[in-house]
Amino acid sequence: MTDKITIGVVGAGTMGRGIAQLYAQAGHPVRIYDAQPGAAGAAVAYVVGMLQRNVDKGRLAVDAFERIRACISAAPDLGALAGCAVVVEAIVEDLGVKRDLFRALEGILGEDAVLATNTSSLTVSEIAAGCARPERVAGLHFFNPVPLMKVAEVIAAVRTAPATVQLLKDITEGAGHRAVVTADQPGFLVNHAGRGLYTEGLRVVEEQVATPADVDDVLRDAMGFRMGPFELLDLTGLDVSSRVMTSIYEQFHQEPRFRPSSLVPPRVAAGLFGRKSGEGWYRYDDSTPQRPPARAVPALAAGQSVWVDPHAQQADTLKALAVRAGLAVMSRGCDADLCIVQPWGMDATSTALSLGLDPARTVAVDPVTPLELRRTLMLTTVTAPGARDLAHALLASDGVPVTVINDSGGFIAQRVMATIVNIAANIVQRGIASVADLEDSVKLGLGYPHGPLAWGDRIGPARILAILRAQQDATGDPRYRASPWLVRRVALGLPLVTPEAQR
Ligand code: NAI
Repeated sequence: MTDKITIGVVGAGTMGRGIAQLYAQAGHPVRIYDAQPGAAGAAVAYVVGMLQRNVDKGRLAVDAFERIRACISAAPDLGALAGCAVVVEAIVEDLGVKRDLFRALEGILGEDAVLATNTSSLTVSEIAAGCARPERVAGLHFFNPVPLMKVAEVIAAVRTAPATVQLLKDITEGAGHRAVVTADQPGFLVNHAGRGLYTEGLRVVEEQVATPADVDDVLRDAMGFRMGPFELLDLTGLDVSSRVMTSIYEQFHQEPRFRPSSLVPPRVAAGLFGRKSGEGWYRYDDSTPQRPPARAVPALAAGQSVWVDPHAQQADTLKALAVRAGLAVMSRGCDADLCIVQPWGMDATSTALSLGLDPARTVAVDPVTPLELRRTLMLTTVTAPGARDLAHALLASDGVPVTVINDSGGFIAQRVMATIVNIAANIVQRGIASVADLEDSVKLGLGYPHGPLAWGDRIGPARILAILRAQQDATGDPRYRASPWLVRRVALGLPLVTPEAQR
């Protein structure tokens, strides 16, 4: 439990309002200041209005409402923040303006007061470098809307004192948010860990493996993401996301894992931003995305036969499905109209050849996705239309949706998951955050159903490594090179979520 301390908030826009509400709700006196005349008063009125709505809905007691209201006030000028123990700035995203503000605050606040910046893309150490006492400066990065997004990143800049980090962590966790600590690195923690979904999703489309809608369908329906990468890009706006993708790539000195896709700039130039411009990866009518029609399910012809690789992960389920659909299940691939394989990391063509199967009669089904949710059917380069239609009809015969894609090592889900896990492993390798902070920040900040390393454990760390290595072998692209942290844990047979993080 932290003592109640007076907190200043500078910038009364979208973020400043939310930050002021959060700390006032926790019982801290909050003073909010904005350079725009009347903006601070409007922010206080806005917060009071939000709280009043909660009272009206029966979610907040009247006496609690009065207590919170009494905690929050508008500051007439910057000087009125004198006496604050912490000031959080949420002003315009401009290094010079933020540095000027912090210098001015140093002249107003006491020696020990902490200065926090809500910057989303600037280097906190650069803001702190303009201060006489950089040890009292840190990042405190919230997500919009602040009261509902229950995580904040406390960014320890190069000279930030541990006590500064601790105070920000204490007041933020005391207000009911999870405060994760991260190093002052590009994208901090959440935006860094979230790169893989976009970069690999875009790569899959770029290589003509699948359409944006296919990628979204598989990741949403079969893997449990709330939205696929293309739905998310349309929500955020491709103009905004494109800048973030390029900025993180450049800040990491062109690290291949974060390489942006060449598909994006022409679409930005053409104004295909997403929801806000009415068209992005999807077209929007009344803000509803228009999805392309699903591929028609072919009829299942009688008298056909199938062979399922006995080493396939889901061989029993696939064979049972074939029996229920009235197909003959053969014991040798050469006798069957259709051969089904389930590779990890390898493409369908190479898998067929390595097993001595006819690639024209072979298809692959992704073993990483639960078969009851959505099935990914991958063709070899030469799968014949008859074999493709038979496989599609069989996989759809019990009503589960099927996504048909072109050949690629790792299908859609394996590629994207291995990329996400590998980036997470490298975050830990680089000491950017602890495993527990990484896992929690991704669940709370990105809404993933599992932390990335826990997800890697569910799939299997050795499998993740095998997918990455197969992709690197097949493409020669260094973006698939495995993090040493992942390699060593696989060699030792250790899980990715470390025992300390499980406590
Ligand atoms: P906003 O435009 O809604 O509000 C900024 C406010 O700061 C305005 O009211 C403006 O009058 C005031 N302001 C500008 N310069 C000032 C100065 N020198 N002194 C006092 N007040 C000043 O901006 P928003 O969206 O709230 O963003 C604020 C900061 O938070 C930025 O650094 C942004 O990158 C960061 N951020 C924004 C997120 C978002 O989703 N909007 C998420 C996380 C961080």
